[in-house]
Amino acid sequence: MSIQHIAIIMDGNGRWATQRNRPRTFGHQAGVKSVRSTIEATVKSGIPYLTLFAFSSENWNRPEKEVSKLMDLFLKSIQKETPELNAKGVALNFIGDLSRFSEKLQIKMEAASQQAPEQVRLTLNIAVNYGGRWDIAQAAKQCCEKVLKSPELLPHLGIEEFASHLCLADQPAVDVLIRTGGEHRISNFLLWQSAYAEIFFEDVLWPDFNESTLQSVIERFMNRERRFGQTSEQINA
Ligand code: IPE
Ligand code: IPE
Ligand code: MG
Repeated sequence: MSIQHIAIIMDGNGRWATQRNRPRTFGHQAGVKSVRSTIEATVKSGIPYLTLFAFSSENWNRPEKEVSKLMDLFLKSIQKETPELNAKGVALNFIGDLSRFSEKLQIKMEAASQQAPEQVRLTLNIAVNYGGRWDIAQAAKQCCEKVLKSPELLPHLGIEEFASHLCLADQPAVDVLIRTGGEHRISNFLLWQSAYAEIFFEDVLWPDFNESTLQSVIERFMNRERRFGQTSEQINA
C-alpha cells in the first residue's frame, strides 16, 4: 500500500515556545527546521506529494504582531530555502487565497513556484491563507460561472467536474493526514481532499517533529486497513 500524498497540520509551535518561556514566534522559527527535515524525509521515502498547512484563513485573527512575524518568516524562508529545495527535486506550489498577502510576498511565492526543478521528485504544496470551505466555495463559484455561460453543461456537473476546480485538482487524494500538537480536529484544512485520508493525531509539538516521527506514522499507516466502504473480507479476497 503505497502513499501518494501526505498532508500535515503543523500545530504546537506556540506551546513549544511557551514551555521554554520564549515568545510564540520563537516556536514558529523552530518549526522551520521540522519543515526542512519532513520534506527531506518525504523525498527519501519516495512519496510524491506533500501538503503543509502553514497559515489558515482563520490565523489572521491572531495578534497583529504574531501575524506580521509569521509573514516575515514566510518571506525569509521562501527566499532562503527555494534554491536548495529545487536542487533536491522539490517543486513548490502555494495554495490558498494569495491575494490577501503583501505584493512582495505574492511575488516571492509566484517566483518560487515558477522555479521548477528539471526532474520533480516531490510536489510540495504550502497552504497559506487556506481554508477548506474557501476552496470548496471558490470551486462552486467557478462551476456556477461555467454553467451560467453554457447551461447545457449542468447535467455533466458531477463530483469529478466539480473537483477539477478545487486546489490540488490534478493531484492524488490525501492518503495520510497528520496533525501534531495533540488536538483532535481538522481546523478547516483539506476538507474535500481528505475524504478518505487515514488520520493521525500526534501529541508531539511541531518543532519536535522529525524524520523518525514521520517514519512512525508511515509504519502505523501500513498496519491500517483502508476499506473505502467495502468489507474486510472483500479487501482481503
Ligand atoms: C501552528 O502552531 C502554527 C500556525 C498556526 C501558524 P500554533 O502557533 O498554532 O501553536 P499552538 O497551537 O498555539 O501551540
Ligand atoms: C491550524 O492550527 C492551522 C495551522 C497549523 C496552520 P491552529 O492552531 O490555527 O488551529 P486551531 O485554532 O487550534 O483549531
Ligand atoms: Mg495551534
